[in-house]
Amino acid sequence: MLPLQGKHIIVGISGGIAAYKAPILVRLLVKAGAEVQCAVTEHALQFVTELTLETVSGHRVYSQLFDHTNPHSTEHISLKDWGDAMVVAPATANIIGKMANGIGDDALSTLLLSFRKPLFVCPAMNTQMLESFAYKRNIQYLRDNGVSVIESTTGELACGTSGNGRMEEPENIVRLMVSALSDNSPLSPSRHILITAGPTYEKIDAVRFIGNFSTGKMGYALAEELASRGCRISLISGPTHLSTLHPSIERIDIMSAREMYDAATRIFPSCDAAILSAAVADFRPENAPDYKIKKNNDSDGMTLNLIQNPDILATLGKIKSDKQILAGFALETDNELENAQKKLVKKNLDFIVLNSLHDKGAGFGHDTNKVTIIDRNGDIDNGELKSKQEVASDIADKLFAMMGV
Ligand code: CTP
Repeated sequence: MLPLQGKHIIVGISGGIAAYKAPILVRLLVKAGAEVQCAVTEHALQFVTELTLETVSGHRVYSQLFDHTNPHSTEHISLKDWGDAMVVAPATANIIGKMANGIGDDALSTLLLSFRKPLFVCPAMNTQMLESFAYKRNIQYLRDNGVSVIESTTGELACGTSGNGRMEEPENIVRLMVSALSDNSPLSPSRHILITAGPTYEKIDAVRFIGNFSTGKMGYALAEELASRGCRISLISGPTHLSTLHPSIERIDIMSAREMYDAATRIFPSCDAAILSAAVADFRPENAPDYKIKKNNDSDGMTLNLIQNPDILATLGKIKSDKQILAGFALETDNELENAQKKLVKKNLDFIVLNSLHDKGAGFGHDTNKVTIIDRNGDIDNGELKSKQEVASDIADKLFAMMGV
């Protein structure tokens, strides 16, 4: 059976350049088994034609709030009843602002006001707009009210600059929607997997911390992939701007390595497996006062005393039972394979995912990654540069093979 068989999906399209990708999204949703109808803003039709959307969806496009050819001018009401889920792709800062503030002044925004079922938005805009205080407030308000935000990615933008603000690729939007909407999974949902993701922040004083550049994308992609395969996920996450979509993911937000350690050691005993992808700070300031440290004008330097954090992966390696599978990541710059193999043995892992910082497009902040998976039997699997979703799928395959699923 196709993954979206029988589902009615409304694709909302607002007026950004990424609207040219909307027909591809519609095609992919139809290929995945869904029946699709489109609702568009007037500006969206500057980038994509009604005829194209009608051809790929096989339905009339909903573009006018007051339509003289339709005797029932409450189409937004009947369409909201028809749809099982809705995705707005691309979602401009304008439509997100309208959604967050209850404005319904055209066909799409009125439909969104009345829609009460799973709703996904795929922001796409220029980086400055993405970083504006108004957008940040509005998108957070949507998240807080249960809207699934499929984050934009980093790359070249239509305005000629490069930065965050590109709409997620249609293939990945469909993959995430399938994951979030799927209710029939190949695995028994009783499998419980622990994942750690993102950076940790180690407090220096009331206003400063030591952190790292991890964005959490790899761990979140793993959580979505395993959830879509029927696992229950406990995702212990350091500070990131990412959101989770699948209902089987329980997210535990932490700040520091010690908080991550406490959560991981509490949850791990009830898990079938754990994959630790977080970039945990190895050290933390020895003293972190609850006030702001003042600069001392008599001295031109400052010394911070750091003490070691607990190694979460090594601790789980010590307490794991024969039935549990434990995997970690290794980020190496020199003697990569040898160091990763040593880490595998030292931390008592079943497999380790080696990330190399030498590879272009791999590592922190990128949407792609290139990894080598090494297991306890000495098998080495060298991967190509792939999207983090595809790497997550390879890691999930390895995990299932090691679990004997
Ligand atoms: N890790 C952890 N707790 C720590 C440090 C690391 O759980 N305090 C985990 C990471 O999540 C990752 C693995 O250990 O899965 C390896 O992390 P990495 O930074 O590559 O190695 P370290 O063990 O910290 O060793 P080194 O920094 O010396 O390479």
